[in-house]
Amino acid sequence: MIKKLSTILFIGVLLFADNAYAQIPSLKDVFKNDFLIGTAMDAEQIEGKDVAADKLIKQQFNAVTPENCMKAEITQPEWNKYDFTLADKLVEFAKKNNMKVNAHNLIWHSQLPPFMRHMQSADSVREYFVNHITKVASRYDRKVYSWDVVNEALNEDGTLRKDIFLDKLGDDYVVEAFRLAQKAAPHTKLYYNDYNIEQPKKRAGAIALIKKIQAAGVRIDGVGIQGHWKAGNVPMKDIEESIKEFSALGIEVMFTELDLSVLPNPWDKVTADVSVTAKGSALMNPYTKALPDSMQHVLAKSYADLFALFLKYKKDISRVTFWGVNDGQSWLNGFPIKGRTNYPLLFDRNFKPKSAFYSVIATAKNQ
Ligand code: G3I
Repeated sequence: MIKKLSTILFIGVLLFADNAYAQIPSLKDVFKNDFLIGTAMDAEQIEGKDVAADKLIKQQFNAVTPENCMKAEITQPEWNKYDFTLADKLVEFAKKNNMKVNAHNLIWHSQLPPFMRHMQSADSVREYFVNHITKVASRYDRKVYSWDVVNEALNEDGTLRKDIFLDKLGDDYVVEAFRLAQKAAPHTKLYYNDYNIEQPKKRAGAIALIKKIQAAGVRIDGVGIQGHWKAGNVPMKDIEESIKEFSALGIEVMFTELDLSVLPNPWDKVTADVSVTAKGSALMNPYTKALPDSMQHVLAKSYADLFALFLKYKKDISRVTFWGVNDGQSWLNGFPIKGRTNYPLLFDRNFKPKSAFYSVIATAKNQ
């Protein structure tokens, strides 16, 4: 009898949850004639262990990016030994739910396999570089929609970051990565992805890189502006200028890792008080219980301004991806200070839409 009651209760909760979600608008539907709306998916979500997230992802998004599971430290944990378990689950989930996968990423200086991190031989680095791109990109050709082929290759001044690939393979490694990806995945779109490339100097470096790829006769289909910005301080003019300058190159423009932090950071110089350290001071983590309405408003306004801009340039923008489903998932709870409570996304820790969600929806209705 008790078993039967608990089953009825569980079904009731699921139906209620379903019904609750059914009441809220869907981002992918509201923007279906404008651009794809995506989210980063973590391992628990890909494995279907996060039931609440699962419902929201299916209802809200038509594109997905693996937050970590297609990075080299996961897909090639040992030399020439590959593990595609989670990547294959993501591809299966997306296929089943009619979502486009933006695979992330093939070449990045971070989250490299341990065996790569201190490799000295240029020949070995080249062998890894060629094998990794060829093996992974060819496996997912026709299964993923696009690849972030190279991620974060630039310094803030627009020069090439001095990482193992530049050091061992030279200035042309970005062009070569796209050449290899084009050969391995002829049916997959190929993107360059980076943060702060809305900033003039870094933007100029990205434009030079894209032109270099194009001049080599190698395919590049788009550029991803990550969009890790600060609520209330979003560089709107730089973003608008970037949309214009990148789209003038004849490629797609995307916002690929959008989140708006509401927390102060050590470099914000919020205080001259020498006692404030980057380690967990109350000043650096002011909203441990909840986000005050005043900050909800700042967040909602920043997101509304951004989406109004995206809609103004919807012919140039092919995708807007949030870097996470809800506030609890966000990497910004642990960066740059571990253990903080941030509120950078559209859904709260209970997967409920925040006022920022409704401000984004309203931009579509106001166009
Ligand atoms: O999976 C392991 C787990 O087994 C282990 O117990 C745990 C504690 O060490 O670590 C877990 O791995 C963590 C992984 O996220 C999965 O949660 C890594 O330590 C952690 O470094 C990793 O952080 C990711 C970060 O990239 C790494 O640089 C974030 O989730 C991810 O959101 C973030 O995403 C990047 C984009 O790929 C590129 N653009 C910037 C963006 C933010 O850094």
